[in-house]
Amino acid sequence: MRKKIITGNWKMNYTVNEAEAFITSILESINTTEIDVVICPNFTALDRLSNLLDNKNVKLGAQNVSYETKGAYTGETSVDMLYALDVEYCIVGHSERRQILNETNEIVNLKAKKLLAKGINPIICVGETLTERNENKLYDVISNQVKNGLKDISSEDVKTKVVMAYEPIWAIGTGVTATTEQAEDMCKYIRNIVCEIYSESVANNLRIQYGGSVNPKNANEILNMENIDGALVGGASLTNDFVAIVNYQ
Ligand code: 13P
Repeated sequence: MRKKIITGNWKMNYTVNEAEAFITSILESINTTEIDVVICPNFTALDRLSNLLDNKNVKLGAQNVSYETKGAYTGETSVDMLYALDVEYCIVGHSERRQILNETNEIVNLKAKKLLAKGINPIICVGETLTERNENKLYDVISNQVKNGLKDISSEDVKTKVVMAYEPIWAIGTGVTATTEQAEDMCKYIRNIVCEIYSESVANNLRIQYGGSVNPKNANEILNMENIDGALVGGASLTNDFVAIVNYQ
């Protein structure tokens, strides 16, 4: 039985003080240990939130990391820096970074491996554009992203630490959610690819999230699909809706 994981990706929202105020307002309402709840604030709020979330049920995540170890990389953040703040998860390969900041599958893979070497769980995002879906290229696109994203990552790491997130780009921030059938179909497809590359046992243990306009109304249906093990929530994670999503059952 895979433990569900619900992640709030705050993107470039909330200053450190706003982050503290918001997390303080919802923290007591999130008291489940049956699912993993992760918040990924902006880097500038990680330190403050690390203190606030100490010994709480909400885990800390980051939105990005450098694939370099340390040194002259202005503006970058290393895995050691995340580790020092007790960051347990880190999103890599979000479509906004792939599209706006030209992050390639190779870069995503380097970042995931860097995180795993330090024991931080990567949340590897994959997803197709609407054009790719309409042109029936989505299976090739997703297969490519999954295979290259996981390149040279051990079966043990995929089984126990990696989280995959299927986020169709056309459903992000648009209010358009993939149908539960579309989301389930793609998460199942990702699991089958992992089964091919690794084994059935690895595939059966891998957690796969769906992301794209998840809200309190659609969370229950999405999270009850066989191959969907959680949600990567953007806009709705900035409000009390996040609590409702966490309490979807
Ligand atoms: P929305 O929930 O705002 O569509 O964003 C999804 C997302 O990109 C999470 O990483």
